[in-house]
Amino acid sequence: MSYPLEDILALRRRGGARPYRAPDGSATMTANNLRTGRWTGLRIGVLGLGTVGQQVVEVLDHERELFAARLGEDIEVACILVRDTDKPRPEVLRGRLTCDPEDILEDEGIEVVVELMGGFEPAHRYIAEAIRRGKTVVTANKEVIARAGPELSAAGLRSGADLLFEAAVAGGIPIIRSLQESLAGNRLQAIHGIVNGTTNFILSRMHQDGSSLEEALREAQGRGYAEADPSDDLDAVDSARKISILASLAFGGWVDVERVDRIGIRAISALDVREAKSLGAVIKLIARAEATPEGLALGVSPTLIPQTHPLADVSGAQNAVYVRGEPIGELLFEGPGAGGPATSSAVIGDILDAARARRVGGRSIALPHEPAALVPLEAHEHAYYLRLRVREEAGVLAAVAQAFARAGVSLGSVHQPPSGDSEAMISLVTRPAQRGQLERVREILRAERAVVREESCILAEIDGAHGYER
Ligand code: NAP
Ligand code: HSE
Repeated sequence: MSYPLEDILALRRRGGARPYRAPDGSATMTANNLRTGRWTGLRIGVLGLGTVGQQVVEVLDHERELFAARLGEDIEVACILVRDTDKPRPEVLRGRLTCDPEDILEDEGIEVVVELMGGFEPAHRYIAEAIRRGKTVVTANKEVIARAGPELSAAGLRSGADLLFEAAVAGGIPIIRSLQESLAGNRLQAIHGIVNGTTNFILSRMHQDGSSLEEALREAQGRGYAEADPSDDLDAVDSARKISILASLAFGGWVDVERVDRIGIRAISALDVREAKSLGAVIKLIARAEATPEGLALGVSPTLIPQTHPLADVSGAQNAVYVRGEPIGELLFEGPGAGGPATSSAVIGDILDAARARRVGGRSIALPHEPAALVPLEAHEHAYYLRLRVREEAGVLAAVAQAFARAGVSLGSVHQPPSGDSEAMISLVTRPAQRGQLERVREILRAERAVVREESCILAEIDGAHGYER
């Protein structure tokens, strides 16, 4: 393809790598291709230039030659959407910034759109539009995938566009592809994971150096781990989205994120962390999906796990995903779960895959449409840790034990430190019981005169009853 001289001069005047479409619409070129007058590489548009977006663009620019040598094809970041083009940014990005999404969506020369804005709208609308136009979409947006994954996946099948979202779950850990491809020959039974870096960072800080939740959250935000609204992290919304995506891929039915039982970490106190330590345990925010004969049991909640548990040492913003299935047995994936470097690794992996797919065919991750059968919450079975404030008087322990007996829940351990006050604390760990039975115990305790209040109720895997303790 040759270009009219005046257009080439106009392109030079614009400078940088801003894309230019040939007058006949048949090809595009940039200042970088002026030498040859031909362009055969892959042009991508990036929506969002925050913690993740900036890192992705920097690596793609910096490693351009390496990736071109690896793929036999050049990848160019042609245009980047931001809210505010006047914000201070590295000079090298300036010529490529736009506030108009149409500069990317309408440009036929852009084959891959990388969405790194976050939030549901307008990200969802832009992704849907890119797919409708046949562009491959790479995204790290778990909210969009968890809420609209099947719809977007189906639209991709219609238009021939791929939808890739490795970065949406567990940061740099390649868990989406592993479930979709390498483990596809297994009948999977369970996925348990620490899939939110921010809350794992906070709980680790509370456990290791007694930081408060607020202090640790500020530090996690400063490191770029937290969501724009950190409630999504603290209230386990982010973890629920991630486990719904993993479960949908692993167990073959679509899991509606609204049906994932979800408890966040806001109520975890320094006292709970100390009590956990005295039990030889740590508190982690664990996301679970387990296949049972009755359907999938799904949930996210703070959980006491023994210090010997494989997930107990996963600290800071690290994530880990435990997978059990037949014939593979048990697998544990561990790695950095949040932040620019970890997430950009997964995003760039998807972009390079999209570049390869131009030659060898699509790489889309197929999401199921039929809803998964879920076990009702009352039938979920776990051990629980409860911490109660009680009156300091004779017969209190007997009254509390009686409440558990009436609901048919066995106790595994009871701990009552000396108080010397009119009130005392009791912490208890139950044997595995159904959630319905636990709620019955809590109701009886609320009506019990000897009990001042329940201060904490956390899921516990102290006795390893649920399989993943060795
Ligand atoms: P971020 O730092 O808040 O950056 C968001 C970027 O998107 C900013 O550049 C912002 O523009 C741009 N943007 C937002 N809304 C826009 C709009 N309506 N129009 C145009 N531009 C808009 O977010 P992030 O931490 O990089 O996260 C991006 C995505 O990756 C989210 O989906 C997040 O959940 C996901 N993710 C993040 C991590 C992580 O550790 N941070 C890890 C995995 C996945 P301005 O710069 O002009 O404000
Ligand atoms: N806020 C998320 C986390 C980012 O802390 O895990 C990674 O998905």
